[in-house]
Amino acid sequence: MARLRVAVLISGRGSNLQALLDACGEGGFPAEIVLVLSNRPDAAGLDRARRAGVPTRILDHKVFASREAFDEAMDGLLRTASADLVCLAGFMRLLTPGFVQAWQDRLINIHPSLLPSFKGLHTHRQALDAGVTIHGCTVHFVTADLDAGPILVQAAVPVHPDDDEDSLAARVLEAEHRIYPLALRWLGEGRISTENNRVRVSNGTAAIYPLINPAA
Ligand code: GRF
Repeated sequence: MARLRVAVLISGRGSNLQALLDACGEGGFPAEIVLVLSNRPDAAGLDRARRAGVPTRILDHKVFASREAFDEAMDGLLRTASADLVCLAGFMRLLTPGFVQAWQDRLINIHPSLLPSFKGLHTHRQALDAGVTIHGCTVHFVTADLDAGPILVQAAVPVHPDDDEDSLAARVLEAEHRIYPLALRWLGEGRISTENNRVRVSNGTAAIYPLINPAA
C-alpha cells in the first residue's frame, strides 16, 4: 500500500517532528514525511528535517500582509508536495477557517494537556495552578475552534508534588513522542474513522488499568 504523504508544520525546537521522522524511518511504517514547513527561519526543527534528508520550506509569516495570504501560500506548498495529511508539531500560528476547512479530516495537532482541559498556552502552568494530579497530552483533529476537534489518542502522566513547569513539561513531552507516531501509524494504516465528534480506532484496545495518583 502507498505510504501516507505527510507534511509537518513547525515553529521551533521540533522534538515532535523528530519523533515522527524517527517513526517514518522504521521499516514498514505506513507514512513518509514529504515536507517540513516552518514559519520561522531559525526553527531548530529545520535542521532535524535536513539531517533526515526531508525537503524543507520556510514561509516567514511576517512578510505576509494577512493571515489569509499566509495560509494561502502554505496551502499552495502543501498541495505542490501532494500532502495527504498535515501534522502540526509546535506550530505557533492560528490557522484561518478557510485553511482548516480545506484540510478538514487531514489536519492533526498535538497539544500538551488532556483536552478539553487546559487549552491554549502555558498548559503545564495551568495544570499546576489547578492542582490536578494527572496531566498529559492529546493528538486531535483540528477544527475551527482552538484545541478542540475529535481526539485520536491521549496519554496521561502523574503530576509529582515537587514538579515545576519544566519537570512536568519534560514528562509530558516523553508521552507526546510516543503518541504522535502512534496516531500517524493508525492514520497510515487506515484504521481511523470519525462519527459524531468521536474517533474510532479499528482493532484498537482500550487500556484497562487506570492511572491513580497519588498511589495509596
Ligand atoms: C509541544 O509540547 C507540543 O505539544 C506543543 O508545542 C510543543 C512543541 O515542541 N504544541 P517541539 O517543537 O515538538 O519540541
